[in-house]
Amino acid sequence: MRTPMIAGNWKLHKTIAEATSLASELTAAVASNQNVEIVVAPVYTALSKVAETLAGSNVKLAAQNCYPEPQGAFTGEVSPLLLKDAGCEYVIIGHSERRQLFAETDESVNKKALALAEGGLGTIFCIGETLEERETGKMFDVLRQQVTAGLKNLTTEQMKTVVVAYEPVWAIGTGKVATDEQAQEVHSFIRGLLAELYDAQTAAATRILYGGSVKPGNVDGLMTQPDVDGALVGGASLKAEDFARIANFEPAA
Ligand code: 13P
Repeated sequence: MRTPMIAGNWKLHKTIAEATSLASELTAAVASNQNVEIVVAPVYTALSKVAETLAGSNVKLAAQNCYPEPQGAFTGEVSPLLLKDAGCEYVIIGHSERRQLFAETDESVNKKALALAEGGLGTIFCIGETLEERETGKMFDVLRQQVTAGLKNLTTEQMKTVVVAYEPVWAIGTGKVATDEQAQEVHSFIRGLLAELYDAQTAAATRILYGGSVKPGNVDGLMTQPDVDGALVGGASLKAEDFARIANFEPAA
């Protein structure tokens, strides 16, 4: 019942020309893939040009961040309204790089989640523990806090447009992917938590993506896990061939 999602987070990479060229290579490579929701998240400056390249294809556009107010005296910020205007259907919030480098908190992530829900945009809501938190037995508490505070006051109806991305910080950009079992363990915990915070139906319908060193060589095993509904891909999304192979994953029967 859950349509898998494969999303590429391009982070701070690619000029407008490079981004549109990657987008057009990608649309060609995944044109026959009708079973997966495929999303790419370029930098702000490339969004509207990439939107033009993606028009009519099965690849959707996302932004990597937003500011939770529609407009006003907020120098340097971009609102959900403007991201929608640029062609975005989703916005990534709460990425660990934003939490670690730009002082994003559960509270600020929550404001963004509410603003996106009100603005009619889909949300890719990122959570994840550090290696230290995992090794000292705090992982489940940390994840519970991130989910509870980050999604606070979102209604069951609003949860329909939220996708959760579990990205263990120690697996991001390190080449050290979580094992299939580690991913499944946490995804199943998150789904249980959603059932507790919302209801069984919401938990069963919410997609939970895994992120952290997803590559063509490990996606199939991850996607075989029952609670892994897709992937949020960094490095490997910068090459059309690799990202297309990830989007065209082949889970074991
Ligand atoms: P990598 O795939 O490069 O590890 O990055 C994961 C990520 O942070 C996606 O948001």
